[in-house]
Amino acid sequence: MDLYEYQAKDLFGAHGVPVLPGDVADTPDEAGRVAADLGQRVVVKAQVKTGGRGKAGGVKLADDAADAKTKAEGILGLDIKGHIVRRVLVAPASDIAEEYYFSFLLDRANRTFLAMASAEGGMEIEQLAVERPDALAKVPVNPLDGVDLAKAKEILTAGKFPEPILDQAAEVVVKLWDTFVAEDATLVEVNPLVRDPQDKIIALDGKVTLDENASFRHPAHADLVDTAAEDPLEAKAKAKDLNYVKLDGQVGIIGNGAGLVMSTLDVVAYAGEEFGGMKPANFLDIGGGASAEVMANGLEIILGDPDVRSVFVNVFGGITACDAVANGIVQAFQLLESRNEPVTKPIVVRLDGNNAEEGRRILTEAALSGLEQVDTMDNAARKAAELASKGA
Ligand SMILES: Nc1ncnc2c1ncn2[C@@H]1O[C@H](COP(=O)(O)OP(=O)(O)OP(=O)(O)O)[C@@H](O)[C@H]1O
Ligand SMILES: [Mg+2]
Repeated sequence: MDLYEYQAKDLFGAHGVPVLPGDVADTPDEAGRVAADLGQRVVVKAQVKTGGRGKAGGVKLADDAADAKTKAEGILGLDIKGHIVRRVLVAPASDIAEEYYFSFLLDRANRTFLAMASAEGGMEIEQLAVERPDALAKVPVNPLDGVDLAKAKEILTAGKFPEPILDQAAEVVVKLWDTFVAEDATLVEVNPLVRDPQDKIIALDGKVTLDENASFRHPAHADLVDTAAEDPLEAKAKAKDLNYVKLDGQVGIIGNGAGLVMSTLDVVAYAGEEFGGMKPANFLDIGGGASAEVMANGLEIILGDPDVRSVFVNVFGGITACDAVANGIVQAFQLLESRNEPVTKPIVVRLDGNNAEEGRRILTEAALSGLEQVDTMDNAARKAAELASKGA
């Protein structure tokens, strides 16, 4: 989960990383009030989960409260790389002597953590990495050793940070490492990390990505989820522990196993070309042990999507055999009936693998209305796409 800058700033603050005060605002008036409270020149910053905000006109200095209100008016509603700005951060304008770059991240390719540091911050780091790779130090961090002051200095020296602020910057780096570890982050990035004219080091910007696999360890992280920006179906699916991603097609997809579901998306998209461009409406992996309840929850989410015109249930029986899945589907129909949400859209089921015959027999006997069985994945995909095109 990516955080907004203001959330990253709060996390940094909680771990002792020096940040500026300031507050968020959803309206120009509020931005004016925050600026008035700060009582000085401020910076008004778009809060969107994408980079390059400054270049896109999403970061503006303002002289006073009235000016902050005007600048917020201009920034709120901006479209920055497809992200609409709904909130701004108002913080004191800082005098900047130098801008640096610093980050910790999970380096999957090398199966380690990586620190990146450069005395040349501010500009886009991707550009720096390409044009002047020597200016960007990349130092692996052994998770068992972590980062102490000595290691921090080693990283900063490699990044050519100036000697006079090395000790102070190293303390900040250790706190950034504390944040990275304590919050189970996969990215902690500060660009720019600045030196002000009084030689104080401050994190002026922050990007944090939290590892959602560790969210069970961090109940407080739930508060960081931006529910307003979340797709309502995805939010509902998440609440039911389903691996669901909303897509923009018309054929609802349920499968067991991420690999099977991904190839189902491909097959449906391909088959759909023949039927006026029908496409998958979602990704939904109900996993290995697909109980009736999981199947019912999955169907409920998919049938609740107004874009869905047909559903393709593609199951390859493994440890959970097809007869268990078939019983799950039958019970799911009953469960949805009892929840007053009877299945009204056509459903195509393809069962294969362990106990497929028995599974098919169960579904045939149950004679569920609107449910049809097709034996192969390709034919089932075609059928589902055809039904979707007719259901327009
Ligand atoms: N509080 C501040 N006071 C003065 N200048 C600031 C302040 N915050 C940011 N700036 C200036 O604005 C520039 C851009 O700010 P920031 O790094 O937060 O956004 P960005 O880099 O454009 O966005 P992103 O990091 O998402 O790509 C900074 O490099 C800095 O020069
Ligand atoms: Mg930045």
